[in-house]
Amino acid sequence: MQRIFINRDSLSPSYIPKKLPHREEQLKFLLNLFSESIKWKSHLRCIQLVGGVGSGKTATAKRFSEILVKEAEKWKNELRVAYINLRRQGPSRFLIFNAIAEQLTSEISVRGFGPEEILNAVIKFLTSTGKLGLIIVDEVDYHCKRYVKEKIVYDLTRLDETAPNGYSNIIGVIFIARDPKWTKMLDEAELSSLGRIQIKFNPYTSSQLRDILIERCKIAFKPGAVSEEVIDFIADVSSSPPINGDARYALDLLLYSGIVAEQRGSPTIRAEHVRLVHSNLCPTITSEDINELSKKLLYVLFSVAKTLKNLQSPYVHFNDIKSTYQVICETSNIKPVKDLFEALDDLAARGLITIKGFTKIGISGVTTEALLHYIDDVINRIEEII
Ligand SMILES: Nc1ncnc2c1ncn2[C@@H]1O[C@H](COP(=O)(O)OP(=O)(O)OP(=O)(O)O)[C@@H](O)[C@H]1O
Ligand SMILES: [Mg+2]
Repeated sequence: MQRIFINRDSLSPSYIPKKLPHREEQLKFLLNLFSESIKWKSHLRCIQLVGGVGSGKTATAKRFSEILVKEAEKWKNELRVAYINLRRQGPSRFLIFNAIAEQLTSEISVRGFGPEEILNAVIKFLTSTGKLGLIIVDEVDYHCKRYVKEKIVYDLTRLDETAPNGYSNIIGVIFIARDPKWTKMLDEAELSSLGRIQIKFNPYTSSQLRDILIERCKIAFKPGAVSEEVIDFIADVSSSPPINGDARYALDLLLYSGIVAEQRGSPTIRAEHVRLVHSNLCPTITSEDINELSKKLLYVLFSVAKTLKNLQSPYVHFNDIKSTYQVICETSNIKPVKDLFEALDDLAARGLITIKGFTKIGISGVTTEALLHYIDDVINRIEEII
């Protein structure tokens, strides 16, 4: 029996609450920007959502798209939304456009089509049926840092140009990035079609996080299970360095503290539960980061963590990781990745590890003590998944 939770799922990263405290302005801006597009023929609009880790970009974009779909219905228009996370999606234009086609136009088959043909088929379907499309491209900065040559920004911002009468029926493309300077990686042509409108998502302050936590507690926990002091404590911890206003961390802390409280048979979450979880969670990594890794990358991260732990050192040599990795692959009976350094580079691009050449591979921004806690935590979490 659950003692304190009513709805534990509402604390998972994929849950999008109806109310997003302190993101009302961003939502309003988006709704204004697209208010005409769902009524009558309009040209494609591009917009960027930019802000740090856990500042509500993805949640706001998803909530916005839900509201816009309902608004479009009022005007008897069907709006379809494609959400692509470029960290999870394969890197090539072909895979990305395929995923867009699957979500926008599942009725048609694009098998055997090249990337441009896929987009053309999507536009043809939408314009001939009168349906509208919205594309959300998440973690675009991650993608551009690694695969800028794919030029997806160029293709996605110029969909109207490829449409026969200048209207693609794709009303907008929302690009989401952590790094405000991500556009520096683009060329002139891409920049000019992308435009420069950025909606900023500042890190949450302690009192903003408090409001977010209070709202979520109403959905997730039985009344009285989380005291105000505990909420204040989580909000304070999550708004200070090194976490700096990450709502995901605050919600993770709330979830795991709830689990600890329940395991200990306590009817309420107490500050000591939060403290325990906080000392074991690593601020620079969240359960979402881990969940979205492919099995292959999980094993690589696991090997880095094991090597750091075995050698009790903040940095280790590539060769040490390689030997650990080989042993882990053999004992787990999995096929090693072709290029281990490339896989480590990917983990570095995701901000999970740091690489300074072959000799210094580690995890930055944490003390050795916190690092060891962190590694244990990573190993536990990875073992749960593996
Ligand atoms: N204003 C808010 N109200 C309620 N929940 C929020 C709010 N902002 C963020 N969250 C929650 O915090 C978590 C992180 O938010 P989100 O995924 O939108 O962050 P993000 O800005 O996309 O971060 P990242 O760059 O790391 O992907 C999600 O579970 C989300 O539901
Ligand atoms: Mg996000």
